[in-house]
Amino acid sequence: MQSKLEEIRSQALSELERVGSLKELDAWRVSYLGRKGKLTQILRSLKDLPLEQRREVGSAANELKELLEERLAEREKELQEVELSVYVERSRLDVTLPGRPIELGRLHPTTQALRQICEVFSSMGFEIVEGPEVEWDYYNFEALNIPPEHPARDMWATLWIDPEKGMLLRTHTSPMQIRLMEKRRPPIRAIMPGRVYRYEATDATHESMFYQVEGLAVDKGISLAHLKGTLYEFARRLFGPGRKARFRCDYFPFVEPGVEMAIECLRCGGEGCRVCSGQGWVEILGAGMVHPKVLERVGYDPEVYTGFAFGLGVERIPMLKYGIDDIRLFYSNDLRFLEQF
Ligand code: FA5
Repeated sequence: MQSKLEEIRSQALSELERVGSLKELDAWRVSYLGRKGKLTQILRSLKDLPLEQRREVGSAANELKELLEERLAEREKELQEVELSVYVERSRLDVTLPGRPIELGRLHPTTQALRQICEVFSSMGFEIVEGPEVEWDYYNFEALNIPPEHPARDMWATLWIDPEKGMLLRTHTSPMQIRLMEKRRPPIRAIMPGRVYRYEATDATHESMFYQVEGLAVDKGISLAHLKGTLYEFARRLFGPGRKARFRCDYFPFVEPGVEMAIECLRCGGEGCRVCSGQGWVEILGAGMVHPKVLERVGYDPEVYTGFAFGLGVERIPMLKYGIDDIRLFYSNDLRFLEQF
């Protein structure tokens, strides 16, 4: 029995030397001191020994048990320290490492242009109003002095949602003039940005979905001079003082007189190129004095009130500013284009 204990002692201690982790240590504990462990079995078998031998072996076995428990505690402490330092080393934060760059998104060039336009008009005292893209024939055409069968309807090829009911995708932002005037009394000074839709073939300067900003000012004594002054100032603030702008007569059923405003083409300096279709000028908006019939329809007395209105093509602004020669680039989702802004 004594020699058996001696064997267990030397085996246990040498195995303990080789234990390299807390998991292995636990296995070692089970194999010697666990319920079915080698030493435990000896302690259990003591009762079968004659008294004399039981005392002797019992005290030796208990001594060995104490020794193994002591060594177990020591080794456990050592291994815990080792594992902790490995963990600390692995999870150490290296504050000297360079940071990972945060990818920033960017605003779409149309959004940037819309914000600039809104900022310029806001600073001139215009409020910003928004309205529906799905519109009634009444607002898109009829109230704008374009009755059914009127030839001017051909100016705006229409995408119908329900032709029977007269439901359509607005072809311009001008219906917002009516919606606003129906709700308010003068004085009015507002811009109305939004998407518009046209059923037409696209080319370098025409899209079937694009943005417009409508402008409307109604009060006593408003004249064409106010319209020109406001729009010249707008162009000066947006393009700088060096850029030429011009007005020419144009026809829209809901204004009288009607004009169009064009800006000298930046890309070719007026020589003629793809951006300006060889003209040297890019038309950016239609405008005019609100037609008396339109004022009457919303219950304003045209003898008392006059007003001006304009409808600006938003994409034309960045096209002019940056010399973009194809409007279709705006909505084709090509990052090589979008990332330039
Ligand atoms: C109109 O839509 C009128 N509602 C403008 C108006 C408002 C006149 C108030 C008088 C008073 P027009 O169809 O010309 O007009 O369009 C106005 C501007 O939108 C144009 O000058 C141009 O800059 C832009 N535009 C027109 N068609 C397209 C298109 N297919 N793609 C991109 N921009 C366009």
